[in-house]
Amino acid sequence: MRPHRPVYVASQAITPFIGKGNPAFIAKGHADFGKRENPTLEDYFIRVVRQLIDETPVDPALIQRGFVGNFAGELFSNQGHLGAMVARADERLSGIGFARMEAACASGGVSAVSAIEAIQAGLDLVLVMGAEVQTTVRAREGADYLARAAHYASERSIDDFTFPALLTRRAKAYKEAYGLTDRDLAHFAVKAYSNANRNPLAHMHAVRMTLDQAATASDDNPNFLQNEELAPHLKVSDCSQVSDGAAAILLASEEGLRKLNKSVGDCVELRSYAIATNPLGQVKDLLRLDTATQATGEALSDADLAPWDVQVAEVHDCFTIAELMMYEAVGWAEPGKGKELVLSGDTSLEGKLPVNTGGGLVGFGHPVGATGVKQVAEIYRQMKGLCGDYQIKGDIRHGLTVNMGGDDRTVVSMVVENRA
Ligand code: CAA
Repeated sequence: MRPHRPVYVASQAITPFIGKGNPAFIAKGHADFGKRENPTLEDYFIRVVRQLIDETPVDPALIQRGFVGNFAGELFSNQGHLGAMVARADERLSGIGFARMEAACASGGVSAVSAIEAIQAGLDLVLVMGAEVQTTVRAREGADYLARAAHYASERSIDDFTFPALLTRRAKAYKEAYGLTDRDLAHFAVKAYSNANRNPLAHMHAVRMTLDQAATASDDNPNFLQNEELAPHLKVSDCSQVSDGAAAILLASEEGLRKLNKSVGDCVELRSYAIATNPLGQVKDLLRLDTATQATGEALSDADLAPWDVQVAEVHDCFTIAELMMYEAVGWAEPGKGKELVLSGDTSLEGKLPVNTGGGLVGFGHPVGATGVKQVAEIYRQMKGLCGDYQIKGDIRHGLTVNMGGDDRTVVSMVVENRA
């Protein structure tokens, strides 16, 4: 879709993403363990909304609608009804309509779509937030919660770690079809960690990853699946993180920009967007992310762009194999050739199309409901020169986001344009 009323991202906010492996995360053994708690889901929403209000700046009473991305607040935090919960962030938000949107790991993306469409219906300032807290339980229990993003009745039993196993099913098929090696996949992990090392908000900011470490199973980097057929094809370093965190963006029409005293040049435009969904549990081809192809194809063609017309991208790398397959789904590489983009350095910070510049889901982290919102915020930050040590060089006119829910079951894609 190409919005008939132009939609701008007027401002953004991202909290640090934290969890196991991040020095700010209070785990057993941390100096503050027992003295201080990790932030709750409510803390993240309140923090990110206040940060956005202060940094825009905006009188909250001008906001006309809010969409909240979250996947599993009821399970991880015993909290639902998140629209009304987020309204606690500022008393001036009282009375404004807020509601939660859920599409698994694409919850943030569908929240942004809802906001764009609210602007098409006539609203001028709409808030989009996403957050997830997943560290309240052990990773194995959390994996059971996340399995609700698959077809639970038929797919849960593949492994205790359902999603890692579902995407590993693809990695195994891809290796057999195209001769991909563990070392090839390790290049994706190394890129993610090295970008995250330059990003102070990233979950894995302080963790180094060498090619040898990522390519070889070890006690520190085990093949942890129990499914014997799949186990050899996944290591911890191939996985996105169990992260807590939040992100927010404020979307505005041209009238909304006037209310904020901002110009088009202060903002970025959401030039086109697409959402595609296919039936749960019915993946037709393990070698293709068909839903991602549908969504990105529509978003790019509605913006009159070809895949290589974008200068930066955020794609959903829930596992290293997903980033590789995204390259092919978008059309940057032919089937079977996705690895070449990472091996050549084309998608590195210095490459001709940097992808996941802040570390992606593997390095920056993956607080599920926040991810789709963070992707748009990251493109904004690159376009406005706000990325510090991981700022890419050169003019960035167009950016692409691809946010995936489940095993390629719901995909939201957006083309972002810098008109400054
Ligand atoms: N040798 C063998 N096995 C080992 C081991 C070793 N040296 N060390 C650990 N393990 C096994 C253990 O059995 C352990 O389970 P228990 O805790 O029950 O003993 C298991 O591996 C996990 O170990 P940890 O809990 O210590 O691992 P961790 O906390 O460091 O987590 C991870 C690592 C399991 C990879 C975790 O980061 C993870 O689950 N990541 C993926 C998150 C995920 O799936 N997100 C959703 C992505 S899908 C998507 O985006 C789409 C959607 O809609 C959902």
